[in-house]
Amino acid sequence: MTEEYVLRCVLMLCCALLTANASNWLYLAKLSSVGSIRDEETCERLRGLIQRQVQICKRSVEVMDAVRRGAQLAIDECQFQFRSRRWNCSTLETMPVFGKIVTQGTREAAFVYAISAASVAFAVTRACSSGELEKCGCDHNVHGVSPEGFQWSGCSDNIAYGVAFSQSFVDVRERSKGQSPSRALMNLHNNEAGRKAILSHMRVECKCHGVSGSCEVKTCWKAMPPFRKVGNVIKEKFDGATEVEQREVGTTKVLMPRNSQFKPHTDEDLVYLEPSPDFCDYDPRTPGMLGTVGRQCNRTSKAIDGCELMCCGRGFQTQEVEVVDRCSCKFHWCCYVKCKQCRKMVEMHTCR
Ligand SMILES: *[C@@H]1O[C@H](CO)[C@@H](O)[C@H](O)[C@H]1NC(C)=O
Ligand SMILES: *[C@@H]1O[C@H](CO)[C@@H](O)[C@H](O)[C@H]1NC(C)=O
Repeated sequence: MTEEYVLRCVLMLCCALLTANASNWLYLAKLSSVGSIRDEETCERLRGLIQRQVQICKRSVEVMDAVRRGAQLAIDECQFQFRSRRWNCSTLETMPVFGKIVTQGTREAAFVYAISAASVAFAVTRACSSGELEKCGCDHNVHGVSPEGFQWSGCSDNIAYGVAFSQSFVDVRERSKGQSPSRALMNLHNNEAGRKAILSHMRVECKCHGVSGSCEVKTCWKAMPPFRKVGNVIKEKFDGATEVEQREVGTTKVLMPRNSQFKPHTDEDLVYLEPSPDFCDYDPRTPGMLGTVGRQCNRTSKAIDGCELMCCGRGFQTQEVEVVDRCSCKFHWCCYVKCKQCRKMVEMHTCR
């Protein structure tokens, strides 16, 4: 072994440790080469899981496809919610999928943790309701006649199962050694806040039974909100996130607002430890830091999607581009709609 080789190994090991990241399991969304996760052997081959997650995988193999769908859901929702921000949640083909953006204790990391914890709870609960799992089904604690006089019936979403699974699978990294105590507190808080975004927006859906739609008998069940709603709630919490620091109260460590004039955060709020970078410039040393060159912006908006802020004062270019739209749609009896294709020129602005 040459010295250079040893040195390189040490460097690689350090890199591996530095990037050992609690959100690496999101990489499951990228493992399209792995088919359905059916057996314990597959659990060993899943990159991105830490040892204790591999154990959970082996114990609950049947749930893992739902976890993988959860990872994809989290990434898609993050990209939707951040579509007109400087950091737009773009993923890398390597781990961690969001690069170094989420390895610091920023607001963006807070969002990613919350949406990921929520997405696993959501996807697993969905799988329970759809009858695809042996370990769980509908929530049978919801039954009988409600105070409002309707009959609980149908499949109530078993959110308790999904939340418990998310707590064991997603939170496990924070409870293991090697994690900084303040980051662990931050991540755990935000994971829980993400799951609360589902729990506090559960709704009651009903169906009427009776002659020609009369509501003689009404049956209802508990349902999760659509995931878009969960994303909207967490995005609002991101906008109002609280900067915190770790303090000791007696012998326990807690997170308190850095600015003592602020009222303390609730269980549903997001918290972060460090201010975010400005995300303006591409930085080859920070994977995931793509900068905003080439990003589309809105010339008239004063918000973050406006050219002023999006382009960080570098200015923008304007192009005329042709867009094809459906137009002059006519309804034909019976029953289809026929449209023409219209071409029009619109201005598109992109950051220099
Ligand atoms: C995010 O922005 C980058 C440019 O910074 C662009 O290449 C990428 O397509 C965008 N991703 C999404 C998901 O919008
Ligand atoms: C640009 O921003 C303005 C003002 O916020 C808004 O009314 C308009 O719909 C935006 N345009 C596009 C194409 O998003």
